[in-house]
Amino acid sequence: MDSDSSTADGISSAEVTAKAVSTALSKVTMSTRAIHMDDFASAHKGIAPAIHVAVNYRYDRDPAKLVPGENKDPHDPENSFVYSRYSAPNSSRFEMVLKDIFGGEVMTYSTGLAAFHAIMVLLNPKRMFIGDGCHGVHANIDLMTKLTGVKKYNLDQLEYLSPGDVIHIETPVNTTGEARNISYYSKKAREVGAYVTVDATFGPPPLQDPLQLGVDNVMHSGTKYIGGHSDMTCGILVVHPMRVDQGWH
Ligand SMILES: Cc1ncc(COP(=O)(O)O)c(C=O)c1O
Repeated sequence: MDSDSSTADGISSAEVTAKAVSTALSKVTMSTRAIHMDDFASAHKGIAPAIHVAVNYRYDRDPAKLVPGENKDPHDPENSFVYSRYSAPNSSRFEMVLKDIFGGEVMTYSTGLAAFHAIMVLLNPKRMFIGDGCHGVHANIDLMTKLTGVKKYNLDQLEYLSPGDVIHIETPVNTTGEARNISYYSKKAREVGAYVTVDATFGPPPLQDPLQLGVDNVMHSGTKYIGGHSDMTCGILVVHPMRVDQGWH
């Protein structure tokens, strides 16, 4: 690649990565970014992403360049994969777009409940404060109670909130549309060293931005608005950049 050639934005073509594009496109609308954030994460030039089914990926043919556990191609960093359980071309492109739209690190899952389960495993709370919402989320907590002893409280019992507990709020609520005051719960959690997670499935970007309101994790059943066509199940977990800096991953 010619390292001297530049695009109209002044980005050298040799360094056209998702990060460079994100910086260059940060001032354009969300819909434009949703279309273009993954433009440079593809080994082909197709506008529609190909569906990749590979489990493993080819390594450098030069044994001297092999690094244990890594498969980085310096000429194509966005297409450097090892094993599809870790990361894979389609989910990585999707996460690249979502990361830009949500403004935090993003992991995608096969369903919304899988994303919620990841929250439970990551935070492993002793007490979970939760109101009305997805029955599957409540069922997951009940299941976790058998494994970890986590106890469920409702949102009117915040006097019992202690360090390490989780307030999980679904807002707007499916199916009543009732909205909760995210800032109120964030403040309560901060006061005692607890965490706040928001199921924002029914208020996707740009309708609300829970990270801006001090939330630790945002989850979505991408099966709903994010997917949009009722033809996939999907879970999305967004982690606040501050928590990423603290080692949450
Ligand atoms: C608000 C909300 N959260 C979570 C879920 C669970 O997501 P999924 O069905 O993708 O596992 C649903 C789906 O019913 C939902 O409506």
